[in-house]
Amino acid sequence: MDRVAIAPSILTADFARLGEEVAAVSPYVDWFHLDVMDGHYVPNLTFGPDVVKAIRTHTELPFHVHLMINEPLRYAPRFAEAGARRISFHPEVVEDVPAAIETIRALGIEVGIAVHPDTPVDSVRTYLKDVDLILMMSVRPGFGGQKFIPEVLSKIEDVRQEVERHGLSAEIEVDGGVNQETVEKVVEAGIDIVVAGSAIFDGVDAPGAAQRLRSQLDDLVKGSA
Ligand code: DX5
Ligand code: ZN
Repeated sequence: MDRVAIAPSILTADFARLGEEVAAVSPYVDWFHLDVMDGHYVPNLTFGPDVVKAIRTHTELPFHVHLMINEPLRYAPRFAEAGARRISFHPEVVEDVPAAIETIRALGIEVGIAVHPDTPVDSVRTYLKDVDLILMMSVRPGFGGQKFIPEVLSKIEDVRQEVERHGLSAEIEVDGGVNQETVEKVVEAGIDIVVAGSAIFDGVDAPGAAQRLRSQLDDLVKGSA
């Protein structure tokens, strides 16, 4: 592991100043993680493609759209047009997962599969070779600021072994409850990217929090070398 990337989730950012919030942390992070919720797959509503388009001009960094919605294939084209580099979906809501992966890839963007905390790795193992990203959720989807679910660590280790054993190209991303206290364990478990929402957009000093997480990750990776 030579470097762990940071993808802030804007879910707990100030929605009245999203452009400014995104621009302010951009120098210290690698992606933005955009949590789209439809009030059906999860009991919360966030934003659509027009908001993604609006913040697209406020940073050069790539967008990873995490679709926590019942009809990911219906809306994926609009998020791709709005500027998503990567779109992840939850396999439970589609009939044919390989076809869904191909449909998103055919938009000319990268595709990820999101693994709900209750979903065993075995039920997605066969798809890991087909995706660019494996999104390991460490909170129940729907809200930022929740507590990290430690049982997910063994699932991350399992997926890491699968990637190494088969030489897969997929990156592994952990999503939910990652902060200064939990980040060491997820780095040890073998992730490539951390999503951090409330640990960065804490309403106090997002750029400072992003910088602290960056140096903590660099120290952890150096320590594990
Ligand atoms: C939850 C989202 C996560 C969440 C992360 O449904 O998928 O991306 O916003 O926020 P924190 O880091 O605060 O748990
Ligand atoms: Zn997410």
